[in-house]
Amino acid sequence: MELLDAARAVREKAYAPYSNFKVGAAVRGASGAVYAGCNVENVAYPEGTCAEAGAIAAMVAAGETALVEVAVIAGSPDPVPPCGGCRQKLKEFGAAEVPVLMATTSGAELSMTLGELLPGAFDPGHLEGS
Ligand code: THU
Repeated sequence: MELLDAARAVREKAYAPYSNFKVGAAVRGASGAVYAGCNVENVAYPEGTCAEAGAIAAMVAAGETALVEVAVIAGSPDPVPPCGGCRQKLKEFGAAEVPVLMATTSGAELSMTLGELLPGAFDPGHLEGS
């Protein structure tokens, strides 16, 4: 599976000296192109960024603002779901039906939609009438 392969490959590049928890993510833009990102930690811990944020930034830098598929992989015993902040970041560019494949380096997989991961999301409609 090409998207998961991209996430698996970029995970190797993760900079995670503080948690030792490497994460790789890949998103497929509406064009079909694949964008990958890894977590990049910082000695000032809150300044670290998640793998999903990197993949999204690469997509936007390439000129795309819609994603149709997501894959995330980590070396955890169970598939790691995107953190809360990343769910909101993904939701900015993806519909509720977008599949998010969560995988482990040992082969476990779990698929959920963005809508399942972030029900009741804050969206642009909530800004109206303010
Ligand atoms: N991490 C991600 O990259 N994505 C997630 O969705 C979960 C957490 C990273 C952040 C940090 O570098 C490490 O995993 C441990 O939390």
